[in-house]
Amino acid sequence: MSTKHWRERLNRWTRMAVIRATGRRDLFWRIWGYNFADEAYQRRIFPQHEWLRNHLAALNPASVAEVGCGFGRNLGLIRDWLGDDCLVVGFDFSLPMLARARDYVTSEAGCLCAADAIQIPMRAASADVVLSHGLLMHLPDAAAGVAELLRVARRSVLIVEQWDDAGERAINDYTWVHDYEGITGSVADSSEAVLVDSRVILNTEQLLCLRIDRHSSHSTS
Ligand SMILES: C[S@@+](CC[C@H](N)C(=O)[O-])C[C@H]1O[C@@H](n2cnc3c(N)ncnc32)[C@H](O)[C@@H]1O
Repeated sequence: MSTKHWRERLNRWTRMAVIRATGRRDLFWRIWGYNFADEAYQRRIFPQHEWLRNHLAALNPASVAEVGCGFGRNLGLIRDWLGDDCLVVGFDFSLPMLARARDYVTSEAGCLCAADAIQIPMRAASADVVLSHGLLMHLPDAAAGVAELLRVARRSVLIVEQWDDAGERAINDYTWVHDYEGITGSVADSSEAVLVDSRVILNTEQLLCLRIDRHSSHSTS
């Protein structure tokens, strides 16, 4: 067995022990942040990225914020798709993740910021598009997460989440299953926004991709 293999096993054991003993999700992600980017699965590009690319092309935003950006996989893709004219901002509460994300963000066209997804340090309606990918399943209160994404979005929110139609069952020890369509529908209603696309995508797992537009700024792809 290689050193990398043992380092990954130790990292997994430590973060699971921390979450079971303390429930501290920030610590869990701080520990995972040291080797998350080295896992081949986390680096892969999946069909949901094609969905994201199509919506971003249709929206042609001047700024995109990703909340829960991890090591910056999506930030790098967005920079490739939209070029340096689009300002890209990444938020995450794991400092080791953000350290790795520096590889994907140029200081001329982007920045990274340590923050909790429930309290994003941005003014209301300040990024054209706000994205979260694999974040809400890690929040106990997904409705509060969606409301915060919508608060800082000027035009649209794009959400990609792992989805389990069994409803209640958590996918593993450290995630929740939420009724994303129900939650985004009701948050959208109360914020005068509209759910303009909802798509299930199958790859190694089942994913739900949602686009919510503020007011009437919709033009579906
Ligand atoms: C499954 S990873 C997804 C990373 C990235 N979006 C991607 O697709 O590669 C989830 C990320 O959300 C971050 N995260 C989880 N809960 C958070 C919270 N409450 N506030 C900010 N970031 C959070 C974790 O640190 C981790 O980087």
